[in-house]
Amino acid sequence: MIRCKALSKTYAGIPALNGVDLHVRAHKTTVIMGGSGSGKTTLLRLIAGLEKPSGGEIYYGDEDFLHMPHRRLYELRQSMGMVFQYSALLNSLNVYDNVAFTLHEHSDLDSDIIHTIVTMKLEQVGLRGMEHLMPSELSGGMAKRVALARAIAMDPGIVFFDEPTSGLDPISAGVITSLIHDLSIKSHHTSVVVTHDVEAGLSIADYVVLLWQGEIIAEGSADDIRHSDDARVNQFIEGKPDGPIPFSRSSVTYIDDLLHKPGTVRMEP
Ligand SMILES: Nc1ncnc2c1ncn2[C@@H]1O[C@H](COP(=O)(O)OP(=O)(O)OP(=O)(O)O)[C@@H](O)[C@H]1O
Ligand SMILES: [Mg+2]
Repeated sequence: MIRCKALSKTYAGIPALNGVDLHVRAHKTTVIMGGSGSGKTTLLRLIAGLEKPSGGEIYYGDEDFLHMPHRRLYELRQSMGMVFQYSALLNSLNVYDNVAFTLHEHSDLDSDIIHTIVTMKLEQVGLRGMEHLMPSELSGGMAKRVALARAIAMDPGIVFFDEPTSGLDPISAGVITSLIHDLSIKSHHTSVVVTHDVEAGLSIADYVVLLWQGEIIAEGSADDIRHSDDARVNQFIEGKPDGPIPFSRSSVTYIDDLLHKPGTVRMEP
């Protein structure tokens, strides 16, 4: 469904993604994993069309995503749902209106039909009856579920999830993980899930991509990843503090940095 070739993204000369080739299969769940700063959100934003890459190509089917006419891009974006890393609900709208908002904005449906759809979506995420609550009155897990209901309101063909379980207790995280799994099976949509939650990611993945420093270091089924003999993959999967993946990514040694040695690169605030 989606093919990325040699995709790269550079921010202020610093590479966030470097030559990524990714194939997202239709009606399957692709899970993108990797440590903090490995480029997961960047990759998701590029394939969802929220940002332009610095280099490379993206194809949806045989259509060139980066050079298509605006009208077609708009149509394609309508068929995408997105659950953002921090839920991103509209704080001034209650649960009902957060879910109904997209339908009002992007469809000609009348209020009765929108009411039916919102009720169905809230039932699917277990929040029917909570329509009147404001985002400030929701727990983190509930907010994620509202974000999920909003993302599937238009019955998208593809749904992007950025860290759907981050900041949740294990039970809420499990609820969200199984919801993502059940919804993608029932609705038959394509899912791209970005997560550093190893167990959740591997449990729902049809295909896993593991990123490290903006590059894919492993890909395959969950079993391929579990049984990889790459030391970086093992370190990530087992959450080991020591191994080939360093905790700090600075290219300047700590002592040089402390002593302000020449050659130290400093970012202006
Ligand atoms: N808008 C931006 N401007 C400058 N640098 C950015 C921007 N977005 C991301 N980066 C940089 O790109 C790199 C990858 O960031 P990204 O957000 O994709 O990582 P991530 O894998 O999603 O991390 P996390 O697990 O912490 O969410 C990081 O070094 C980050 O500092
Ligand atoms: Mg991220």
